[in-house]
Amino acid sequence: MFVTYTVRHILEDNPMPTTAPSTPLAASRSRALDEPGAAGGAMPTMRAITADRYGAPADVLRLRRVERTTPGKGEVLVSVAAAGLSRAALHLTTGTPYLVRLFGFGFRAPKHAMGIEVAGTVAAVGAGVERLAVGDQVFGYAPGACAEFAVARADKLALRPEGLDVVHAAALVDSASTALQAVRDHGRVQAGERVLVLGASGGVGSFAVQIAKAAGAEVTGTASTAKLLFVAGLGADHVVDHTAGDPLRVADGAPFDVILDLGGNRPVKALRQALTSTGRLVIVGGEGGGKLTGGFQRQILAPLRGVGSSQDLMTFVSTEHHRFLDDLAAMAVAGEIAVPIDRTHPIDEAPQGLARMEAGTLRGKDVVVIGP
Ligand SMILES: NC(=O)c1ccc[n+]([C@@H]2O[C@H](COP(=O)([O-])OP(=O)(O)OC[C@H]3O[C@@H](n4cnc5c(N)ncnc54)[C@H](OP(=O)(O)O)[C@@H]3O)[C@@H](O)[C@H]2O)c1
Repeated sequence: MFVTYTVRHILEDNPMPTTAPSTPLAASRSRALDEPGAAGGAMPTMRAITADRYGAPADVLRLRRVERTTPGKGEVLVSVAAAGLSRAALHLTTGTPYLVRLFGFGFRAPKHAMGIEVAGTVAAVGAGVERLAVGDQVFGYAPGACAEFAVARADKLALRPEGLDVVHAAALVDSASTALQAVRDHGRVQAGERVLVLGASGGVGSFAVQIAKAAGAEVTGTASTAKLLFVAGLGADHVVDHTAGDPLRVADGAPFDVILDLGGNRPVKALRQALTSTGRLVIVGGEGGGKLTGGFQRQILAPLRGVGSSQDLMTFVSTEHHRFLDDLAAMAVAGEIAVPIDRTHPIDEAPQGLARMEAGTLRGKDVVVIGP
């Protein structure tokens, strides 16, 4: 039954595009206006971090001047103040796992400017948009976020409350929303439960630790040696160095009521052995699972292994909707969670920011500051 739910969920929330997306084609696949031979037309232009092929961030990402786009039906043009960097931005820059190229983001080269997490001001609204108006301060999902302007679906943008500045809002989008859905909606973490976060130092994990703590759980977080203090600072009750041995064997707090699997691609069998007999395993992701699928098959097949078991094994693809961002903003403003910013970068240094993620050096989130 769960498998049916998962597949339906993925298809509903991430529909394969049936028409060419109206979002920033100009900010991406059109010729950059500062390339030799490009003629600047009457279209307004903007600066954007784009790539003309897939590859390592430092090799392919450049700050270019490109045509600005206009919002289509149900869409909004955002004047971008800041763009958060997430794993999705890295996947969509490298084009790996290759599976991501099948989801409408470009087969041979990225279709959009880099980035999907945005904070800024509504500059124009498309037909049918009633919830947002020009001048609104917003944050949310926008393909091509790392540019002076980005087009977003209105239902993927939340109003930014006064107590949340643009840099922190830009870092409170995909990673944070994924963490919220993993902890609250799929993991169903309750007060007093023991929770293991595998990959607690990254974008998703740094929020997951805090959200699980806010729910009253006893949290164990794993990270590499240099990031253990960072994870402890997020409020984790126990920290485990995943480079020093198998965290599933040595982790304090085992067996766990809930395991949130964000890194390491460990076999489902080993994860289950660290769970209580009625525990929940939520596989969110993990790098290093191969260039073709990135280990996605492990995620998809996990629920099958739980059939007939009292353990609940699940995976999900994060739903992109403003309702999760509204909840996160309320939690941040109330001080229940902090937005863990590691570094900010000016727009021309955005490629270095993404390269830090690729190298595995960042703690929490990096943000590119773009607008005033
Ligand atoms: N299902 C979804 O909808 C969804 C949404 C967003 C993200 N994701 C996926 O979730 C994963 C985590 O995303 P993220 O943004 O948090 O990435 P990230 O910021 O790069 O963090 C990766 C985390 O994995 C840890 N890690 C690396 N090797 C590990 C190992 N062998 N064992 C345990 N942990 C290890 C890292 O720890 P150290 O750096 O300390 O080594 C770090 O905490 C990615 O694969 C991403 O694609 C899925």
